[in-house]
This record gives sequence, structure tokens and C-alpha cells, in this order.
Amino acid sequence: MRPAARLEGVGLSIIRRMNVGAPVGAVSLGLGEPSWPLPEAAVRALGRTDGACAYGPNEGLQDLRDAVAGLYGVSKASVMIGAGSQGVLFSLFQAWSEPGRAVLVPDPGFVAYPTLARLAGAVPVTYPLGTGGRLDAAALIAALKEHPEAAMAIVNHPGNPCGGGADPGDLARVADACRDAGVILVSDEVYGELYLGARPTRLVDVSDYGVSVSSVSKAWGAPGLRVGWAVGDPGILEPARLIHNYMTTAAARPCQEAALALIADSATVLPAARLALRKRWDALASALASGLGMTASIPAGAFYFWLSLPPAFADDPLPFCLRLRDEAEVIVVPGLAFGRLGNDYVRLSFAGEPGTIAEGVRRLAPFWR
Ligand SMILES: Cc1ncc(COP(=O)(O)O)c(C=O)c1O
Repeated sequence: MRPAARLEGVGLSIIRRMNVGAPVGAVSLGLGEPSWPLPEAAVRALGRTDGACAYGPNEGLQDLRDAVAGLYGVSKASVMIGAGSQGVLFSLFQAWSEPGRAVLVPDPGFVAYPTLARLAGAVPVTYPLGTGGRLDAAALIAALKEHPEAAMAIVNHPGNPCGGGADPGDLARVADACRDAGVILVSDEVYGELYLGARPTRLVDVSDYGVSVSSVSKAWGAPGLRVGWAVGDPGILEPARLIHNYMTTAAARPCQEAALALIADSATVLPAARLALRKRWDALASALASGLGMTASIPAGAFYFWLSLPPAFADDPLPFCLRLRDEAEVIVVPGLAFGRLGNDYVRLSFAGEPGTIAEGVRRLAPFWR
């Protein structure tokens, strides 16, 4: 495992190195950080009770790292905190992929993966998902064999855009295959706590290889905080942390504090989120039954439904979705946004209010009849 060449000669800045590990009580003439209180206007806007808003450690607030470590039953050395899972993914891609290498990404898959690979100078190579958008271990392992130049492989479960899950055995097989091939495995589990049936298995539950990525954006209901994490092999996290340090210094401190409060209240927050998801799914399933005469199978998790296009429109999905937008006044995302294999589908998000979901399906139903 060799990080991307762009990291050669890059280390923790000397400014930070002077601070990390300094004796308690050392007088700091080091950091360029105001020592006077946070001005009252910001204290009020943030609802803070104290007036400090220091940078904080590059690796994230220690309490937050402990809290995330507690969610996974690992030590905090195995936790990286970042600016949303997007910030963590960007850092992992920059740390581990580079020109001449490939990144294996699912098709259909989250729109950011191919772009993150290209931004790192690497080539995104797709592998197909299985039935219902589930991880197909054999397909991913075949892609690994076909692409010895692969540096990283990404799995996403429950997945965006299909809501498909991953069998524990498949995840473990993929982890073993990636380890054998020397390929960094990133398991994007940002929807992992937002499930409708059985609790999804996390990569760290079945393997000590690779990293699991998540954030407070979905199940903890706070996308605007921009706080996420990766959990797993510290050797994989270390170079990514360095990239993240130079990109943002650290995730915003008041946001990390709010994320800590949310995680501490997980016993209330997560069941409430799953109940909200269930109500929305029920609204969607009943609207699909009455509007389209369809019995929809329940996704493993996330708030996306992968709907087949009416055959007459499958050749030209984009104009069809624009017609839906302008004539039916309902917005859906054409599946081709998520890869070639998404061409015959649209993604319906059921994250909105139940009434909005029912109205949206009512409006689009005539186009499916
Ligand atoms: C699969 C997947 N991964 C990552 C993200 C990024 O989430 P965030 O940066 O808010 O944690 C999203 C956002 O929609 C997503 O769908």
C-alpha cells in the first residue's frame, strides 16, 4: 500500500508539529489564533454559552473522535473526522489514487465517485450492481482482476441511487479480495443508520481491512453541519488526514460540537429518523400502488426509489424528465446521472414530507400509464 505520489514530501506543517505533543502548560507563542473572545454577534448566532472558537486539533475534537469510536467499537486512532463524508471521501481519493491508476466505482452509483477519481488524476472504472442495486461481490472481484492498475474500490450500501444493501458475506469477500490485490477499500455507509428492514452490516463488522465512511448528514438529520468520518485501518487514514488538514485545517468546531451532541443523543435521534423514514416509505409505497398499480419492493435503506422508466421513454430519458418537470411539475433525477446502467430508470427521493411524496407520484402517474 503506497499513498499517491502527490503526498511525497508532505507532512504535518511545522506550525502544527510545534503544538502536537507540547507539554501541558507550555506558553503558546505559536498558532495564529485570536485569544480574545468570539464577538457577541457570532456567540448569539451560534447559541454558544462561551466566547471561544479556536481551530481545534487537525484530527478533530478528541471527544467527537471518542464518540465516533464508540459507535464502531474501535479506538480513536481508527477514526478520522472531516468536513462531511464528502470531505473525507475527497481526502481518501487524493491520498490513494493518482494518474495511471483506476478507481472501481459502482454503476449505478453516487455521482461524486467518478469525479473524485478524475480530480485525483485517476480513471473511474465501473462495476455493475446486482439485483435491487445490491452489492454483487463477484462483479466487483471480476473488475479487480481485470484492472490490476486499480488503486481503490468503492462500495456504497445502502446505496444511492437504488437503496440496495450488501450481504455480510459479500462484503467480507470483497474486503479479502481488495486486501489480496493491495487495493484500498472504501465502504460508503452514509445511509447505514437509515434502514427500513434489518440493520445493515458495516464493513468494520466483517473485516479489519478498509474503511467505513459516514456522517451526521442523513440519519442524524444534519447535512448542513458538514461533519463526517472514516473509521478503519489507521494506515489508510493517516495520509487522508494529511490531505484534509491542508484542505480545511479541521471540520468547523461549533459543528463538531453539535455533531458530538447528536451522537450522544443517538438513542433518541436514530429511532426517530427511522420512524420518519418509515412514514415516508409508507406514503411512497401507497402512492405507487394507487397511482401506478405497482407493488414496490422495500429498499435496504436510504430514501431513494429506483423506478423503471415507461418503455416508450427509455430511449430518451433526459427530455422525458424535463417534460415531467415542466408539464407535470414534478422533479425526479434521470438514472443516467448515476451511470450507464441507470439509463432506463429515474431516482425518486422520498426524503420529503409524506404529503409531498403522495402529490409528486400523483402528478407523474399519468406519464407511466
Ligand atoms: C452515497 C453518498 N455518499 C456521500 C454523500 C455525501 O454526504 P455528506 O458529505 O453530507 O456526508 C452523499 C450525499 O448525498 C451520498 O449520497
